Amino acid sequence: MSTQSDAMAPDVAAPDVAAAGATAAGATAAGAVGAAAASPERKRRRGLPTVRPEVFRLLTLVSLVFLGLIVVTGGAVRLTGSGLGCPTWPQCGDGSFTPHSQYALHGAVEFGNRMVSIVMGVFMLVTPLAALRLPDRRERRDLVWLSFGLLAGFLGQAVLGGITVLTDLHPATVAAHFLLSMLLLVDGVVLYRRARQGAGPVTVCVRRELLWLARVLVVVAAGVLVLGTVVTGTGPHSGDDEKARRFGFDIVTVAQLHADSAMLVTGLAVAMVFAVRIAKASPEARRWANALVVTIVAQAAIGFTQYFLGIPAGLVALHVAGATLMWIAALRLWLALADRPRQLGTPASDVVDVAAVIDSYDAHGTSTVVDAVEDPVGASPSGAVTA
Ligand code: HEM
Repeated sequence: MSTQSDAMAPDVAAPDVAAAGATAAGATAAGAVGAAAASPERKRRRGLPTVRPEVFRLLTLVSLVFLGLIVVTGGAVRLTGSGLGCPTWPQCGDGSFTPHSQYALHGAVEFGNRMVSIVMGVFMLVTPLAALRLPDRRERRDLVWLSFGLLAGFLGQAVLGGITVLTDLHPATVAAHFLLSMLLLVDGVVLYRRARQGAGPVTVCVRRELLWLARVLVVVAAGVLVLGTVVTGTGPHSGDDEKARRFGFDIVTVAQLHADSAMLVTGLAVAMVFAVRIAKASPEARRWANALVVTIVAQAAIGFTQYFLGIPAGLVALHVAGATLMWIAALRLWLALADRPRQLGTPASDVVDVAAVIDSYDAHGTSTVVDAVEDPVGASPSGAVTA
């Protein structure tokens, strides 16, 4: 972090320069009065630090790590049947915030998850506050909104977590808890990437057919996640054995549906690996296509193994972590098909939403490639999709 006198903070630097100029010119009485009147305001501004973009980028990385971590620790709570391990909230048992020995392992797992949630909550609060103090925050409203999205999602998760306990871990609320985490990851992944891009308009880097393939892949991947939560809610690992309820579906049928959708997403991911090469998409897109195939194949292998071994908790925990990684890879691949070059002085009104640009690109029906592989910044100086 730097102070407001930092040269990167134009709104503060400008009055300082003006004041210096006035002094050099021999500071008239009126000028002196003006400077005196402005000084309380300057003092107030000096008290608020400006956040360097690299610090903000680090915050987006840490937030993303915590968004993934909480899914795994939350999964551990469910898999060890510790959802009701601390019988009260925020205290863990009467009169204490730490677990009593009588709650043993379950209390410790639930308490550990609460600790991760608290540290995560601090980052979910600090990140939007930092976005408000970015030097170019007026141009980067996207970063401000996405950061506040993290905070809103986190608060939503806290409320949903409470409802989950109150409903004795009803499978619908357990599933909603997991799926809201996946939505939060969408926010976190987009924020992470945009914090590393410019404020310029979106440049679509590939043919529209490839964009469609990526979109379909993300939707199917989301479907696999939803069906996975249905299998969980039907099977033994939805929560506490004595208290928690279950969906009444046939476990073989829902597991079959889930596995079928996993096969579909596997096929789409393999197709993507070839398609991004043929379309000469960016190296980033190729990397994420590879990463996606690796995570999906590993996921499918774990999924079948756990199914035939009677769903051991350790493998299910790996499956949950793998699902999180697969989701991040699918989102990163989709986002890697468009770029936002850094264009100094681009007014905020020119900042275009990714989806809107992709839609207009589709509407034109062109199949032109903007080859941003070698020089993503210089590929399209105007920022437009070239024909
Ligand atoms: C792309 C591949 C896959 C992904 C992304 C995926 C994702 C998921 C997710 C998100 C869950 C729910 C976790 C939770 O609610 O905490 C789940 C559960 C499950 N999945 Fe998969 N899955 C994949 C492939 C498979 C395959 C091929 C099988 C084979 C049958 C399988 C079997 C299961 C089973 C049995 C459960 C329930 C585990 C439990 O009781 O908690 N999965 N999966």
